[in-house]
Amino acid sequence: MKTVENAAVVSMLNLTDDVRDMTIHCPVIASEAKAGQFVELYPDNGVNLLARPISICAIDAENGNIRLVFRIVGKGTEIFSRLSAGDKIRVLGPCGNGFSPGEGRAVLVGGGIGVPPLLETCRQLKGEKTVVLGFRDKSDVILCDEFEALGAKVYIATDNGSLGFKGNVVELMKSENITGDMIYSCGPKIMLKFLSDYAKERGIACLVSLEERMACGIGACVGCVVKIKDGDGWTHKKVCKDGPVFDGREVIW
Ligand SMILES: Cc1cc2nc3c(=O)[nH]c(=O)nc-3n(C[C@H](O)[C@H](O)[C@H](O)COP(=O)(O)OP(=O)(O)OC[C@H]3O[C@@H](n4cnc5c(N)ncnc54)[C@H](O)[C@@H]3O)c2cc1C
Ligand code: FES
Repeated sequence: MKTVENAAVVSMLNLTDDVRDMTIHCPVIASEAKAGQFVELYPDNGVNLLARPISICAIDAENGNIRLVFRIVGKGTEIFSRLSAGDKIRVLGPCGNGFSPGEGRAVLVGGGIGVPPLLETCRQLKGEKTVVLGFRDKSDVILCDEFEALGAKVYIATDNGSLGFKGNVVELMKSENITGDMIYSCGPKIMLKFLSDYAKERGIACLVSLEERMACGIGACVGCVVKIKDGDGWTHKKVCKDGPVFDGREVIW
């Protein structure tokens, strides 16, 4: 069940120039959270901004903490980035459906700031794990060593070739002929579309976590709808409530 907690910031670290790694103490949310779910963070500066959705990167239920990794792109995330240990932040969660990490050969595919929710997913997976991460430049690379520490084989692609494969994650997967039983993915919509096509061609099941822009974040408006196949037609689903994770074969891109 979703809860609002007044969480204490445990730590705030810089991962890159514009990406922050924030751990917050919210024991109720931490005890309920699943890999791939997200929380809504309230920018508490008196300007009444809407809450901002941020994926749960890691869950430490024992200590009542969750870890959030976010890029500073606008007013809300800039406000969050100024918090430090001991500050308080209002948080609603856990939100959405999340992944259900299982057994078998898993391929985790992340693009840019879509990488963080895959870390907890990777930690919970039981079988063989291959991780494919895509970034614009080597200075944007995040969390790579943490996936390796979880026993995953990690491939990196950068748009400009400054680290690893030059190109995008799907081109890298084609070049390395990467396959598995289930793909868990999160990143830009265009990446997820081409990844779903790749999975379909090779008969691999593919879960995609969509990061649509949101308004209410709790299913009360239609700010985040996407088209999902339904029989011979399609229906609207809400990313904040029915997602963010969908079967890639069912999304109408
Ligand atoms: C389910 C979900 C999980 C997310 N998880 C993360 C995460 O783990 N880490 C992270 O850094 N970000 C994540 N995001 C995106 C994050 O919510 C936005 O970057 C944030 O709300 C921007 O708020 P702001 O006030 O800083 O920027 P705003 O001033 O609201 O916007 C600044 C710029 O960012 C763009 N933007 C805003 N929201 C989104 C969005 N949802 N998708 C793409 N572009 C957007 C705007 O178009 C604008 O160009 C997630 C989004 C969703 C829906
Ligand atoms: S953001 Fe309002 S329904 Fe999803």
